[in-house]
Amino acid sequence: VITNSDRPESLAGHSAIREAAALLKEGGIVAFPTETVYGLGADASSSGAVTSVFRAKGRPSDNPLIVHIADLDRLERWTREVPEKGVELARRYWPGPLTLILPHRGNLAPQVTAGLSTVGIRIPSHPVALALLRESGLPVAAPSANRSGKPSPTDAAHVRDDLHGRIDGILDGGTTGIGVESTVVDVTSDPPVLLRPGGITLDMLRDAVGEIRLDRGLERETMNPRSPGMKYRHYAPQGKMWVVTGEGKSLVERVQRMADGLKREGMKVGILSTEEHAANYEADWVFVCGRRSDPFSIARGLYQALRAFDEVKAEAIVAEGFPPQGVLFTVMNRLVKAAEGRVISAGES
Ligand code: TXA
Ligand code: MG
Repeated sequence: VITNSDRPESLAGHSAIREAAALLKEGGIVAFPTETVYGLGADASSSGAVTSVFRAKGRPSDNPLIVHIADLDRLERWTREVPEKGVELARRYWPGPLTLILPHRGNLAPQVTAGLSTVGIRIPSHPVALALLRESGLPVAAPSANRSGKPSPTDAAHVRDDLHGRIDGILDGGTTGIGVESTVVDVTSDPPVLLRPGGITLDMLRDAVGEIRLDRGLERETMNPRSPGMKYRHYAPQGKMWVVTGEGKSLVERVQRMADGLKREGMKVGILSTEEHAANYEADWVFVCGRRSDPFSIARGLYQALRAFDEVKAEAIVAEGFPPQGVLFTVMNRLVKAAEGRVISAGES
């Protein structure tokens, strides 16, 4: 086990890093920790390796992968014309949980970009990820290291549960710090377009480059979730899920009432709670994702909690919702997708 408190310098000669880098160079696929979630890495210039990643995940081949690089110097090797706002975002938030969509040079395996003229690139900040990127010297294509349709893995055990026997190795760096995926921003248009909210918040983006537009699909998914038309099937728990929005006492009462109703219908019911409210609930399972007083703790614990409901085979899940601000906008985006758009307000009866 490599702990995530280690510095990349001290990890450089580590045998596990060397072994993982060697596997990547041979065309193997290796899971590794990043500050967001675990990624399933492959040499982004190798069609064979990238194809293996799609196969291991069961991922549709028209959904492009993110390419991870070790430093800014290598950006121009794979991309053309980085617009000024892209440079500014990279300067501010790399290494970190931000992916920039940029025009590529055509020298990556075509499967990585699913035939698009653009590529998603990021420099992760996790010491193990950086050590692996430096040791291998490769651009590493890495989607989240889950089977398609499961929540992204936030520790090595999740990767093992999903992909054991389908991949060549796992670098275990403990639990990831952010817990939700990177923010994806298309900087090929001006103003830049937010395609996926993540660890870098909308406010942080706007602080760096001013106006940011929300992708239309994103607006539909998060703000007006009942309209159909999400392109890729997202994680949905085995049980049917609802998200309840609201605050304080009325939120708690609505969540409990919803859970009681489902219980009366004969279902095994779980509640996804926050630490502040957990003691108020009665259900077959009450799992806590984090503390309202610390929004980042909620992002960090979200996927672990969602996986736990599948493990106990909850038949229905009622989740507390959040005001969509800061990193909680990202949390709501993932919750609403998991609930396939079933959102109810604590104000409604
Ligand atoms: O935090 C993360 O981003 C993690 C870690 C491992 O880096 N990776 C990750 O990868 O979440 P994945 O494959 O699960 O999500 C990549 C997202 C997808 O929504 C994909 O559609 C989008 O990035 N994407 C990649 N390339 C793109 C492109 N050229 N244009 C538009 N969207 C792109
Ligand atoms: Mg993913």
